[in-house]
Amino acid sequence: MNIQHVTVVGAGTMGNGIAHVFAQAGRPVTLVDQSKELLAAGVETIEKNLGRQLEKEKITQEEHDQTLGRVARRIDLAGGAAEADLVVEAVTEQESVKKEVFRALDEHAPSEAILASNTSSISITWLGAQTERAGRVVGMHFFNPVPVMSLVEIVRGLETTDAVYDTVEGLAEDLGKDPVEVADFPGFVSNRILMPMINEAIFCLMEGVADAEDIDTVMTLGMNHPMGPLTLADFIGLDVCLSIMEVLHTQLGDDKYRPCPLLRQKVTAGHLGRKSGQGFFRYG
Ligand code: NAI
Repeated sequence: MNIQHVTVVGAGTMGNGIAHVFAQAGRPVTLVDQSKELLAAGVETIEKNLGRQLEKEKITQEEHDQTLGRVARRIDLAGGAAEADLVVEAVTEQESVKKEVFRALDEHAPSEAILASNTSSISITWLGAQTERAGRVVGMHFFNPVPVMSLVEIVRGLETTDAVYDTVEGLAEDLGKDPVEVADFPGFVSNRILMPMINEAIFCLMEGVADAEDIDTVMTLGMNHPMGPLTLADFIGLDVCLSIMEVLHTQLGDDKYRPCPLLRQKVTAGHLGRKSGQGFFRYG
């Protein structure tokens, strides 16, 4: 399958990074979000990150300009998906939101188009079942920040065809990424391991085992992690962390995955981490 035109739905933390890497690899990209303001913010982030690559002489001015020139913006999903060979969905991590988006994509994207989701935890098989093309639905789980991180988990739903899997795997390699095949179980490999660790760090904070900085210091100095779990949670977004823990808890049915009450409280208060200026730490 020849993939040229890529539509990315959701211009937030992940969506703008995904649009960035496809455009940089020479694909025309349509970025879709719900408002002109959100799209402008997404494209601004792409521009800022390309500017950094330029400063570090990783790309030329010409590559910078051409990459930006390949990104079109749309606020209507129907029009934005109409020419897609591949759609990568990166909207809010909520089943109800994704369900609506997948149903609309199934209606408006060409029948041959592959529908990929960047979901961290929602079942690809379930997303496929919302459409009439389950064989062409696959997980393409990028990592944050997308232009920097090389891993992509490629998730096979129960119905995903080999041809679709192979196409998406080849495409990830084209982007200069390192794809890893994973089966469609909650949290895949990455979040099945990472999120319970972050959740446990939040329990340590809630129970007063240590303060936030010290918890992170233990993990950076003692375990050689490049970033402490609470800093990482702020970076990912505490709402995203909570959604993932809820999916693990519900779908695996084991209380060891129960979200920490302090995580819930932070999200209720709107302390979502870096993106809201405050989470476990404050950001200027
Ligand atoms: P985000 O909250 O930064 O961005 C989500 C975007 O989707 C928002 O701009 C929102 O306006 C848009 N959106 C929501 N409903 C929409 C609709 N119906 N049509 C068009 N746009 C819509 O979220 P983030 O962090 O980028 O997460 C997106 C997806 O990526 C989630 O599934 C998340 O689990 C996954 N993910 C997140 C990672 C992270 O580090 N934040 C890492 C890997 C995956």
